[in-house]
Amino acid sequence: MIAVEGGRPLRGELTVQGAKNSVLPILAASIMCGDVSVIENCPRLEDVDASVAILRHLGCRVRWLGEDLEVDSSCLSRWDIPDDLMRRMRSSVIFLGAILARCAQAELSFPGGCELGPRPIDLHLTALRTLGVRIDECGGQIRCRCRNLRGTEIVLSLPSVGATENAMLAACGAGGVTVISNAAREPEIVDLQSFLRKMGASVRGAGTSTVIVEGGRSLHGCRHRCIGDRIAAATYLSAVAATGGEITLKGVDYRYLSTVTTALAQAGCRINSSEQHIHLRSNGQLRGICPIRTSPYPGFPTDAQAVVMAALLRSRGTTVFVENIFQNRYRHVAELQRMGANIRLEGRVAVLCGVPRLCGATVRCTDLRGGAALVLAGLQADGITQVEEIHHIKRGYSDLTGDLARLGARIQEIGE
Ligand code: UD1
Repeated sequence: MIAVEGGRPLRGELTVQGAKNSVLPILAASIMCGDVSVIENCPRLEDVDASVAILRHLGCRVRWLGEDLEVDSSCLSRWDIPDDLMRRMRSSVIFLGAILARCAQAELSFPGGCELGPRPIDLHLTALRTLGVRIDECGGQIRCRCRNLRGTEIVLSLPSVGATENAMLAACGAGGVTVISNAAREPEIVDLQSFLRKMGASVRGAGTSTVIVEGGRSLHGCRHRCIGDRIAAATYLSAVAATGGEITLKGVDYRYLSTVTTALAQAGCRINSSEQHIHLRSNGQLRGICPIRTSPYPGFPTDAQAVVMAALLRSRGTTVFVENIFQNRYRHVAELQRMGANIRLEGRVAVLCGVPRLCGATVRCTDLRGGAALVLAGLQADGITQVEEIHHIKRGYSDLTGDLARLGARIQEIGE
């Protein structure tokens, strides 16, 4: 449980952790080279632990070297992932493309992580079938075989982040050229491309909606530093926007955060950014802003919806949120209402009217970013807020409590 006493402004400087959504596909990709790779700036998270458990199950040797993770996949000896490991996180499914590229067969079950509503993997499987993979789905098991993966054209019906990554990885093991159209354009996909290129793969176009892979190259180990986590950055900016104070963030590219910083600036924060830092100052008295509509990158990230909502709970005026990516991404709202938040829900739309005060309460994390939003609400509430079920938060933040305490929050983690 996290206990937080609200009402203190936050001040200070933080270096943002490496991006969870970069490191997870990169760890999956690391098995493709049959060699030693070192992933620098790797955050210590539950989801990274889950990836390490999968890598070890597959036969890789994995060890931490300070903040870097070394993966030796020369001794890979299996192509299956058991159900308990698959269920630990959604990203386990990205191992599918990587295992197929290396072993030409794979066996696993459906991934976990249904907290945001249904999260099908049909686009992943369709992309792999297009590359020539024979897939049998039976009793929750997915069995994949391919004699020869062949380069082809893959058109995604939605710019799914995970399906784009899975297609990129499998295409590296396919003979010939693969063109992925309507690809997701997230910065983490560009980071995956950088890693693949360092391993010797030929991949270009990431960051645009067409990614081109010339498969069949022989791959080797490499050293790669992950980009900073733009969603963790959005969380800390939102925290300081809400409480008042000032923060300097390092280790994250401000261009990846422009929709979030634009929203916080509109709410009344002063923000200036350079290549090296993002600086935000807030007097803690925000105002309602234009509707926030989540959409694929470069639109407003669905992962930042909950924390920006938390920042605006005590704002003057009204803000409308429209969640366009996931069906069930407002589960934190009922918990925020326990603290006195005024938010009305109507399907994909949430209408927030700012209230003058929030009151501390016992609340429960419903998912990763929703959990962070509850902590942010606690930072602004009168009295003490107890946030339970914080294992959700640990999936994605290496030290949320410690970071906020270093900024001056009265916050501590108490054994659950
Ligand atoms: C990734 C991020 C997650 C973020 C999300 C959207 C990682 C590890 N996770 O998740 O933090 O919230 O992008 O930015 O990078 N869909 C289908 N069929 C599929 C795949 C997806 O219908 O086969 C739908 C999903 O249900 C969802 C939408 O497409 O409605 C977007 O999902 P997707 O981009 O695939 O998200 P993830 O890769 O799971």
